[in-house]
Amino acid sequence: LIAFFRPKSLAGQRLLVTAGPTYEAIDPVRGITNLSSGKMGFAIARAAREAGADVTLVAGPVALATPRGVNRIDVKSAQNMLAAVVQHAQAATLFVATAAVADWRPAQAAEQKIKKDGSGATPQLQFVENTDILATVAQSARALSGALYCVGFAAESQDLLANAQAKRARKGVPLLVGNIGPATFGKDENALLLVDALSATELPHASKLSLARQLVAEIAKRLHTSP
Ligand code: CTP
Ligand code: CA
Repeated sequence: LIAFFRPKSLAGQRLLVTAGPTYEAIDPVRGITNLSSGKMGFAIARAAREAGADVTLVAGPVALATPRGVNRIDVKSAQNMLAAVVQHAQAATLFVATAAVADWRPAQAAEQKIKKDGSGATPQLQFVENTDILATVAQSARALSGALYCVGFAAESQDLLANAQAKRARKGVPLLVGNIGPATFGKDENALLLVDALSATELPHASKLSLARQLVAEIAKRLHTSP
């Protein structure tokens, strides 16, 4: 009911948001993943929906309920996530990448379960780098033309401001949201640092839903002022 009376700052916007970890198979029963809970991305999906956006949420493997009114697409691997994102970015006006995408995947997943051979020998895994989903979208014609506003996230273990500024430039996005991780993984609260070309704005420690609502307001402000 409260959400009903909140001003609809994202009315008419189509948000695409990634959330959670990805899962990179080693064999049919094993894989590599990370501790991202997906809570921040799901909170952003909810807050943006409340703010009037049409929301598509591309989620890695997480144990979270879909926010009301949000179109959810479940994916497993970084490659699955990239495919879903590229497809849905064509109609989006806003892309927010909160997913903790695996940076590497096993070069090939074994078709059958890898068995111990009794000798104590261990599997020697080779890795390949996953495509950077955020950078791919940020460099698309749609983003470069200004029709798609891209927001990145970064969990850093040190030097948050410097790392976030460097990452913003490297990814080619107008806005990058930093937080000190991995202390925040799985928690219901966080604190954020919003870094754009002109400034750094701190959103102090609060619930992820409260931060998501503040972030949505900050994004809406930038959408309405930037070309
Ligand atoms: N990201 C992505 N695809 C990847 C890796 C990262 O879309 N393959 C996105 C994340 O969703 C996040 C941003 O890029 O919005 C930053 O992710 P992060 O892991 O902090 O940056 P990396 O470029 O992977 O650098 P590193 O992990 O080495 O710090
Ligand atoms: Ca990474």
